[in-house]
Amino acid sequence: MTPMVCATIDTGALRHNLQVIRRLAPKSRVMAVIKANAYGHGLVAVARALEAAADAFAVARIGEALALREAGIKTPIVLLEGVFDSEQLAAAAAGDFELVVHTQEQIELLLAAPPDARFKVWLKLDSGMNRLGFKAEEYPAVHAAVSRARALKAPVNLITHLACADTPELPATAEQLMVFDAATRSLAGERSVASSAALLGFADSQADWVRPGLLLYGVSPFRGSTGADHGVRPVMTLRSQIIAIKNLVVGDRVGYGGDWTATRPTRLAIVSVGYGDGYPRSACSGTPVLVSGEQATLAGRISMDMIAIDTTDVQHKPKVGDSVVLWGEGLAIEEVAVWAETLPYTLLCGINQRVAMRFL
Ligand SMILES: Cc1ncc(COP(=O)(O)O)c(C=O)c1O
Repeated sequence: MTPMVCATIDTGALRHNLQVIRRLAPKSRVMAVIKANAYGHGLVAVARALEAAADAFAVARIGEALALREAGIKTPIVLLEGVFDSEQLAAAAAGDFELVVHTQEQIELLLAAPPDARFKVWLKLDSGMNRLGFKAEEYPAVHAAVSRARALKAPVNLITHLACADTPELPATAEQLMVFDAATRSLAGERSVASSAALLGFADSQADWVRPGLLLYGVSPFRGSTGADHGVRPVMTLRSQIIAIKNLVVGDRVGYGGDWTATRPTRLAIVSVGYGDGYPRSACSGTPVLVSGEQATLAGRISMDMIAIDTTDVQHKPKVGDSVVLWGEGLAIEEVAVWAETLPYTLLCGINQRVAMRFL
């Protein structure tokens, strides 16, 4: 049985995108960021697709790392938020996870680790984002403390995260890079700074390891461009199908609140997808969709299970059962995100368990 709403994941595109990233950052190793269910693409399936190609995976939480090991993934895994108690520390040792260390409490956990536990540690510098990490003034002292930990697989690695790399015209990124450089210049260890936007926009941030997420999934981190502009291909295509056709006369109103009114005789198609699947409730009339490869537009508000689209201008006369692309192949998710006043990140992560996943 064909599922009504289906996200097709093109694993070939994933591998292609990783190769593009390698060409963009030829001197760096690649830590593929697959947290949040690989940005909605399926954690284990994405890890399997990239296992042979990525140098490491990065996830936010230990549960995600454990799921990868349970699935038999052997690639190094970095915990971007680290661990928070001795139970998590023991599980991290058993799973051979690499730890980001960003609080004094985490240093103490590391110092109290069981005698046989050994970790590769990424010491996080807060270079200006004020989210995770130690300030530049405390970095030398915490670096020295972590370096003395018996549980450390030396040397300590050095990591920071950039707040504004997707807005290259702002001075913030250059300032953060200067802070990172000054705080780490005299230290040994591998360095990691750049997520997708930085690796594209700030070549000097690429360092030993890049940490791309969004770009890996074929999506641009910059407003006003698409993944295709950077040579990557969309990995997820979200599809549904038409479940009813309505012929409207001028003045007919559509959907909750009657928000959209027909100003011409209209061939309206009702499509089986809604905010109950993760399609954004904020998408407004005019948002593009593809019906059998031709563009149509949303008409009226998004329901939990349905949307309405104006197909009057579609040449090939739409009928019940026709496939509709919500984003992906032929329709950039970046464009849909603008219409929905959101970001591709939230659209991808918002896809939920009601959507069937199909891996190519
Ligand atoms: C610490 C860290 N590194 C890398 C990334 C990947 O970012 P992007 O998806 O923009 O490439 C993220 C994403 O949120 C992150 O939090």
